[in-house]
Amino acid sequence: MSIEQKALFTIFGGTGDLAKRKLYPSLYRLYKKGYLKEKFAVIGTARREWADDFYRDVVIESIQDISESKEHAIKFASHFYYQSHNVTDIQHYNTLKTLSEKLDENYQLDGNRLFYLAMSPNFFGIISQNLKDRNLITPTGFNRLIIEKPFGQDFESALELNDQIRASFEEDQIYRIDHYLGKEMVQNISAVRFGNYMIESMWNSRYIDNIQITLSESIGVEERGGYYDTSGALRDMLQNHILQIISLLAMEPPTRLEDKEIRTEKIKALKAVRLFEPNEVSNYMVRGQYGPSKDEISKDLNGYREELNVAPESQTETFVSGKILIDNFRWAGVPFYFRTGKRLAEKGTQIDIEFKNVPLNLFDNNEEPLPANILTIYIQPTEGFSLELNTKKIGLGLETETLKLEHKHSAETTANSPEAYEKLILDCLNGDSTNFTHWDEVATSWKFVDIIRKHWDSEKIDFPNYASGSMGPIESEQLLNKDGFKWHWCPNNN
Ligand code: BG6
Repeated sequence: MSIEQKALFTIFGGTGDLAKRKLYPSLYRLYKKGYLKEKFAVIGTARREWADDFYRDVVIESIQDISESKEHAIKFASHFYYQSHNVTDIQHYNTLKTLSEKLDENYQLDGNRLFYLAMSPNFFGIISQNLKDRNLITPTGFNRLIIEKPFGQDFESALELNDQIRASFEEDQIYRIDHYLGKEMVQNISAVRFGNYMIESMWNSRYIDNIQITLSESIGVEERGGYYDTSGALRDMLQNHILQIISLLAMEPPTRLEDKEIRTEKIKALKAVRLFEPNEVSNYMVRGQYGPSKDEISKDLNGYREELNVAPESQTETFVSGKILIDNFRWAGVPFYFRTGKRLAEKGTQIDIEFKNVPLNLFDNNEEPLPANILTIYIQPTEGFSLELNTKKIGLGLETETLKLEHKHSAETTANSPEAYEKLILDCLNGDSTNFTHWDEVATSWKFVDIIRKHWDSEKIDFPNYASGSMGPIESEQLLNKDGFKWHWCPNNN
């Protein structure tokens, strides 16, 4: 049953891409499902001057593929108001306050406010300070701040940013978005582990040989070259999404599936991640940058250095893979391999859990060890699971073959599964921070990533080193090969 929520949403960056692609459609989905009905209003802000009508047309356009009817979309958009706003101008916050109070009264919002910062982190500090100083934070309802990544460039800058925000908002009012935590199958990791005793009892170094996490993207950096060239795959994907997934895979069972309990366990897992010495980084981490495609069909694709707003000699990595070790009783000695990159062979996110081999092969095909059992969690675009088991081949003799038990959600189910942003906004309205990142997680992740970044920045590398359409540089294969493993998912060989 949907419970109607009351709130005023103020979106900083209301004319931006994220607002149009994700936020307005997600708010609309919540509206369609009855979580938002009459008692909500949205103020979109950005520097440019827009009239309410123009803004509402933009909102309607952003939901045109999912709206029930034109009338329904218009009714939804009638809750939207636009206010031109310069984040550094104190006077503008006074105007925003007047509008907020008016909407609060008209829509009976009881002072519930959700501030969404969908813009450059440079402005997070000044916005949060002014929200407090200009009394946009209400004494009556809830006041919550949603923040988009990147949260800092390294530990120091993240700490500074956090201090600025914490001067105006308490930690439990801050919701740091990691949209991977809103994905259905990432949330399913806990269900698989804690809903199946068979699996949870094998979820440790006695039975698991290694874990492989792939977040592969087929697109390049597109029009985001300016941002990406200062970020790179390490900061863009490892510091947040990948370390978050690892913490969910590695954490101890929480006493309850609630935010504080889960967070405590995630932080413990992250703190157990082994920090490398600078001179060890190259033994554990591989970086890559895409060059032009070698393939005839896509031969027109640029290399990274030819992309818009990217330095011609850029040393920024568009691919990173690595081996992470978790020094605790459960995981000692089990490598967590990961890889992520732009312009790889296929878009797909999956986790492959490789179990240990039987100690002895008793079957007819006994020259070789039996293939390992693999549990795969498909996160996107397919959602589902598979489990590879060895069984007897039909016929005389005792040869084995590997069977794959597979469940993939139907295209219809996947299409109807809630969008990550939809879930996260609803969680925030409910005051549930389970699927957001706490400052301690951010801080711990940066400390791990900073060591790698610092080492990489001290050494020039010969880029580009992988072709568009491949699965990254050869060193990423070798990383596993030298431990006697190989990547289980090989999209270009399928
Ligand atoms: C974002 C990164 O956090 O995640 C992007 O900044 C990346 O570079 C995106 O493309 C990938 O998200 P998804 O949901 O498409 O896998």
